[in-house]
Amino acid sequence: MDLREALYTTRSMRRLKPDPVPLDVQARILDAARFAPSGRNMQNWHFILVDDPQIAKVLGPIYREQIGAVLDSTYAEAARAAANDPDSPESRALERLFRSVRHQALHWESIPLFLFAYAPEGNTGSSIFPAIWSAMLAARAEGVGSTLTTVLNPRKDVDRLLGVPEDEGWVQVACVPMGYPTGRFGVPERKPLASVAGRNSWSGPLGFDASEPLWPGDEL
Ligand SMILES: Cc1cc2nc3c(=O)[nH]c(=O)nc-3n(C[C@H](O)[C@H](O)[C@H](O)COP(=O)(O)O)c2cc1C
Repeated sequence: MDLREALYTTRSMRRLKPDPVPLDVQARILDAARFAPSGRNMQNWHFILVDDPQIAKVLGPIYREQIGAVLDSTYAEAARAAANDPDSPESRALERLFRSVRHQALHWESIPLFLFAYAPEGNTGSSIFPAIWSAMLAARAEGVGSTLTTVLNPRKDVDRLLGVPEDEGWVQVACVPMGYPTGRFGVPERKPLASVAGRNSWSGPLGFDASEPLWPGDEL
């Protein structure tokens, strides 16, 4: 698959078929992750592929508890604002996101594959997210949809379930559910480039027009 297509269409895919992801596909996804950059090339990470339905069954209620708490706290204000102005584009986008998040949470047990990522405590961001994103891009190239999730991170019961060594300082950084999507990949909604970038200063004019996504352009 064309790299630019993958970059522009690896959006969150939360509606997944229960069909298993074959081992050779899993191998290509995970192998791509280890070629990502990391500080000093330490590759201080550990990944766990989970395709055991019994584990997914245990994770389901835990994920719903965690995502429920996030929706009730972090997202509560935005949800109230959306309820007051349901027809605005922002409210509609938020409602679509909630529907998709709820769908995934309710169908967690039928997700065929999860990729858990662990990093040493205190080193939980910059040195592992490139690898996670590489796995998601590699999944996209295989036609496998994914979503980066972090709400399970604080759950030590999940770490225990997965046999994470308790005394080596590993912390969960992400859980990426994966599977073949029921819907189609597409270019997601994003803010206009000029509102999030500048040239030579915070808000210096960029000097090019990227008000619309620059892919596919005339490539297709
Ligand atoms: C650091 C991080 C944490 C996230 N955590 C969750 C999560 O716990 N659950 C979830 O459904 N999506 C999660 N997401 C996915 C975001 O909701 C998603 O990337 C965003 O809404 C854009 O989605 P789109 O690419 O489909 O447009 C997370 C994304 C990031 C980057």
